[in-house]
Amino acid sequence: MWAATCASTWYVDPTDAVVVAVVGPLTLSLATSLIATQVKRGDHVICVDNMFTGSKENVAHLLNEPNFELIRHDVVEPILLEIDQVYHLACPASPVHYKYNPIKTMKTGFIGTMNMLGLAKRCRARFLLTSTSEVYGDPLQHPQTEEYWGNVNPIGERSCYDEGKRAAECLTMDYHREHGLFNTYGPRMALDDGRVVSNFVAQAILGQELTVFGDGQQTRSFQYISDLVRGMVAMMDQDEVVGPINIGNPNEFTMLELAELVKSIVNPDVSVKFIENTADDPSRRKPDISRAKELLKWSPKVQLKDGLLKMLDDFRKRLEQAEALERRRTMDGFSPKGGPP
Ligand SMILES: NC(=O)c1ccc[n+]([C@@H]2O[C@H](COP(=O)([O-])OP(=O)(O)OC[C@H]3O[C@@H](n4cnc5c(N)ncnc54)[C@H](O)[C@@H]3O)[C@@H](O)[C@H]2O)c1
Repeated sequence: MWAATCASTWYVDPTDAVVVAVVGPLTLSLATSLIATQVKRGDHVICVDNMFTGSKENVAHLLNEPNFELIRHDVVEPILLEIDQVYHLACPASPVHYKYNPIKTMKTGFIGTMNMLGLAKRCRARFLLTSTSEVYGDPLQHPQTEEYWGNVNPIGERSCYDEGKRAAECLTMDYHREHGLFNTYGPRMALDDGRVVSNFVAQAILGQELTVFGDGQQTRSFQYISDLVRGMVAMMDQDEVVGPINIGNPNEFTMLELAELVKSIVNPDVSVKFIENTADDPSRRKPDISRAKELLKWSPKVQLKDGLLKMLDDFRKRLEQAEALERRRTMDGFSPKGGPP
């Protein structure tokens, strides 16, 4: 994750509420966690999202709060706001979503970030970009420190996301001379999100086979959403560090280990199915978080097993609702144009 102060003279009257633009936050629990944290502490939060993968439902409980606003807007177009801080998260992060329209993903990474940096610059606001461990590609260095330049395929199926974020980092550094995010999971992730933790949990609840790409020996490091939000706020609320700073949980798991853990917690009866791997799937991923520990006094607190248990209730509830809706749709006589059956 990268942060930048676009103006060293950033100043907020301590008697005024800080106006925070959170851009692209309507999925995962970033909506409830990050935004709810800001709203609770009295900041005025303007949430900007084009609802591509995000959903208004995730902030429904905040819509009547006087210090919360929701704007449907695509960051590929400029926006005029008067703000003190920008958290720029807008970008589809699941391979299913970012490969859906790669050119749009690249535009979001580049033009979207340029627009948000322009907004921060004009308002002399503090800026935080959620970059990604994908900028390290299939890393030749392990674990990955912030200094590592990465090993990325510039013309592959993942490039729109990886290179879009690399361009976003470059722009952010260019605007300031600029926080990298490692895999994050939690409640409110889309049920069909396509990312491994949400996939396994949903499949296990539904009693389906857990689909493991390749031989399942590739590793990832998973951080729970509340750890990420603490890291982002710590980064935004300080004056010393520009970035980049790795925010992630360094505990490393193979996909097969993750599948076995999900099985043991959610449903021991399901089996694992191996399917062909996708192109350019990184073989290893583990953040070196020494910088975050030293400079932000931040380290992750939630272990994978505990985090999975925390997201389970939410996934069970939403899958039950989705099943009930599906049953209603297939009931005899249901007409999509009619009122409730
Ligand atoms: N979740 C993770 O594990 C992870 C890991 C690394 C980096 N990140 C980064 O964190 C950020 C958020 O990740 P996420 O997992 O919540 O992603 P997500 O795809 O679930 O959500 C992205 C949000 O951005 C919005 N969005 C997409 N394109 C937009 C556009 N052009 N204009 C306005 N809004 C737009 C979507 O509607 C959605 O609300 C992304 O920038 C992602 O690259 C996430």
